[in-house]
Amino acid sequence: MNVLITGGNGFIGSHTCVELIEAGYDVIVMDNLSNSEGENVKKIEKITGKKLCFYNTDMLDYSGVDRIFKENEISGVIHFAGLKAVGESVEKPLEYYENNITGTINICKAMKENGCKRMVFSSSATVYGTSGKVPLVETLPTSATNPYGFTKVMIERILKDLCIADPEWSVMLLRYFNPIGAHESGVIGEKPKGMPNNLIPVISKVAMGEMPYVMVYGNDYNTPDGTGVRDYIHVADLAVGHIKAMEYLLSHKGSEAVNLGTGKGTSVLEIIKAYENACGKEIPYKFVKKRSGDVAVCYADTTKAKELLGWEAKFGIERMCIDSWRFTQKK
Ligand code: UD1
Repeated sequence: MNVLITGGNGFIGSHTCVELIEAGYDVIVMDNLSNSEGENVKKIEKITGKKLCFYNTDMLDYSGVDRIFKENEISGVIHFAGLKAVGESVEKPLEYYENNITGTINICKAMKENGCKRMVFSSSATVYGTSGKVPLVETLPTSATNPYGFTKVMIERILKDLCIADPEWSVMLLRYFNPIGAHESGVIGEKPKGMPNNLIPVISKVAMGEMPYVMVYGNDYNTPDGTGVRDYIHVADLAVGHIKAMEYLLSHKGSEAVNLGTGKGTSVLEIIKAYENACGKEIPYKFVKKRSGDVAVCYADTTKAKELLGWEAKFGIERMCIDSWRFTQKK
């Protein structure tokens, strides 16, 4: 079965490609390489020993997208492509809305045109906005605090409406919590361009001596140690979740939103400690003021993923940090 992976050269996309290929799917990757180096495609081939069909195509280019469907019989799409930096989205809202939303509409139009109506969409726990009610359950209302988050909220809405209008569509909206870690081979992992914003890429840079310390945003949250609590999930677990979602869509129509998290919260200081254990070095840190838009605590209710997909995360934060460190040293 041919599956098109948009954004397949990126962090979560590349891990999902590996899992799909190992599960026997034929994978076609479409990526414009805007936020990743093209090398992940080669690395996926190295890990799996299989040649990949790769298109360097921008999703804003409708005819380019349509051509991929015309040249291949595609049974399902896993849609990762999109801009994803929160701060940048505040500075460049038009770019974010145009790229993420128009791009997704182009993909859906090309799918419809070519008779493919099955999509797994890469959404985010960011759609819970500042709800504050934990664990976060799929039935909560959605909202956002920045343009990046609103693109996820809007795309979820567009895809739901598509399923309402045409009962032939099947869509899974996967709401990821905080994906970290790397493939156990150390060959693929997270490699953000420019200065990192997310916690693990920052800790990795400090561990490598490329940054002096971690700035811990806030130590007076209402949490056990005062620092922010998140639901970190191993990217390899997340990748398996996509396969389960695609399998589910093979026999179900309509749309569903499902959380992919571990259901367990970990503080910034606990993550720093786990990373110190993984790399055998001290990770210096300093408390600084809170980052605007951050919530105190965010973790998933994982019941629906278990019940609907039969999926559950396997790895804990120790393993996530060990795999992340292995990749960081190799890159
Ligand atoms: C962020 C995005 C979210 C996106 C997710 C993707 C924001 C507000 N949210 O989630 O929309 O889906 O990344 O992975 O940016 N921290 C520090 N120091 C740092 C970096 C982070 O203390 O240098 C803290 C944060 O305050 C937070 C935790 O570490 O408590 C995790 O932060 P981060 O990795 O940026 O993820 P989120 O903010 O949860």
